[in-house]
Amino acid sequence: MGALLPRLRWPAIAFATKPAALWIEVGAGSFEHAEAIARANPTIGLVACEVFENGIASLLSRIAPGDTDPASAALPPNLRVYPDDARALLRSLPDQSLGQLFLMFPDPWPKARHAKRRFVHPDMINEIARLMPSGAEWRIASDDPTYQNWVCAVFAEQNNFVMAQQTTMRPEFWPATRYEAKAIRAGRQPYYWIFRRTER
Ligand SMILES: C[S@@+](CC[C@H](N)C(=O)[O-])C[C@H]1O[C@@H](n2cnc3c(N)ncnc32)[C@H](O)[C@@H]1O
Repeated sequence: MGALLPRLRWPAIAFATKPAALWIEVGAGSFEHAEAIARANPTIGLVACEVFENGIASLLSRIAPGDTDPASAALPPNLRVYPDDARALLRSLPDQSLGQLFLMFPDPWPKARHAKRRFVHPDMINEIARLMPSGAEWRIASDDPTYQNWVCAVFAEQNNFVMAQQTTMRPEFWPATRYEAKAIRAGRQPYYWIFRRTER
């Protein structure tokens, strides 16, 4: 991981060409969703955040040993990794600089006394609202019933985002993740939401 991560680390390694928009994924896991989104949208720049070293190692293992090309074809050129707490990155960004946000199966923190640790939180909603221009999209998925109710309750109490979609069937344009497959095998029902930034 030591030699490979510096080739992808954001913001040290900027995008090779100026992206049409900055998109961010929070908690990318093994990065299969991030990779698919970056490939399907070559004009944007996607920064995928993950704190779990094994997840980052899984992404880097897709680069063949001996492939020293900094622009290795093994990974989409418009994908960068932020190997740290996504919240720190988001707080550092300027207003209206975020075109899209992906939050796929966030850690649920099901105990009420840990609710402050949930990524979906009134404070974070205000922060994301600051970062997004009108119409920008925030996609969320969760398989945890407590978190599903929490998402509905927290978004119902704000007016910076409107719910554009809520479904139990993942839309075709929305790539799957490893965690989702595990959740479905275990008999849990994921929910998928698309929220859109309201007019500023
Ligand atoms: C339940 S897993 C889901 C992983 C992936 N999204 C998927 O669906 O397969 C949640 C992931 O979020 C990561 N994570 C949690 N909080 C984070 C944060 N503040 N910044 C970056 N990653 C975070 C965890 O390390 C973990 O890998």
